[in-house]
Amino acid sequence: MHGGGFYYLEKYKSAPKVIPKSLHWFKYEAYFTWLSGFSLLFVVYYFNASSMLIDPRVLDISPLAGVGIGVASFVVAWLVYDGLCRTALVRSPWFKVIGFVIATAFAYFYAEVFSARAAYIHFGAMLGTLMVGNVFFTIIPAQKAMVKAATEGTPLDPQLGKNALARSLHNNYFTLPVLFVMVSNHFPSTFSHSYPWAILAAITLGTAGVKHWLNLREKHQTDTAVWVLPAAVALLLGVVFVTAPPAQDSASAAAACTQEVGISQVNLIVQKRCIQCHSSKPTDDVFKSPPNGVVYDTPEDIIRLKDKIMQRVVVTKTMPQNNKTQITQEERDLIRCWIEQGALNK
Ligand code: HEC
Repeated sequence: MHGGGFYYLEKYKSAPKVIPKSLHWFKYEAYFTWLSGFSLLFVVYYFNASSMLIDPRVLDISPLAGVGIGVASFVVAWLVYDGLCRTALVRSPWFKVIGFVIATAFAYFYAEVFSARAAYIHFGAMLGTLMVGNVFFTIIPAQKAMVKAATEGTPLDPQLGKNALARSLHNNYFTLPVLFVMVSNHFPSTFSHSYPWAILAAITLGTAGVKHWLNLREKHQTDTAVWVLPAAVALLLGVVFVTAPPAQDSASAAAACTQEVGISQVNLIVQKRCIQCHSSKPTDDVFKSPPNGVVYDTPEDIIRLKDKIMQRVVVTKTMPQNNKTQITQEERDLIRCWIEQGALNK
């Protein structure tokens, strides 16, 4: 049942005797997801490459080089993956292991070249490209050939269906990792980790594991592999644990704040390190309007937004963006002390 209606769905191993008059092709979903994702990749990351894609603390490359590397990496990923799928390896259980190792290598490469956040997005875009490549170059051509053979009554090459099925299964495993990457932007604690690629690899393995269990359950085979779900969930919980911000013992942390910090001190830091971007008239060379509408024009603005400041400046240290304005650890500590002392307006 779907959307309050009953549907009748039937799967044929090869083609049915009669091809239905109206045949729904499941392909536009894939194409439009990829197109919208890539439009956003260009608008957000490539058109603002110097601030969004490149982090000079990771690798100081030109925006053009960054975009070139990004786009080329998708082509390379497809060629490697498609090449592997054409070997006998695709039928071996080792394929998954090798695939995972290669994916991790990509995650590592991205994390060594781009800002951590852009590295995550590239990893997702890379998997998304493989998915849509599978639909475009293998699954749909195979389906067209199958329909043609069925309408003409010519014998069907069973390998076509098998190839399409294998690629479709890979896509099935890619879905949850790609979904995670799509929302990862909102979780700085994941990409701000010192080993962002390892977190990405662990989440990929964990979410693909959950997908594996769902697949087994659909085939009623979970009793032979009961460990799959707990193992996948344990891995994901492990990621939650290692990316969690360090538990602040607030008594001892407050003790480290020897002097009382006032709003005027914090305001000075913010005026020096933040308002280049976060003001109603930014002076930054890239951000001509305040990012996310966040402005710190007055001390009241700072007080109102103190919780988010704590998250981004003290806990995850993902602000100032790529530390463009070179905030110091002492300044971060002063902000932390002020917030822990109650974020007073004095
Ligand atoms: C070079 C420009 C730049 C500077 C300097 C900068 N930011 Fe940001 N800030 C951004 C961008 C871009 C975003 C939106 C993307 C994101 O959330 O990472 C953002 C988002 C934020 C957010 C999240 C807002 C929300 O609604 O989710 C906070 C909080 C923040 N910045 C605080 C600060 C503080 C505090 C400073 C100074 C210590 C600072 N930023 C300096 C560019 C900057």
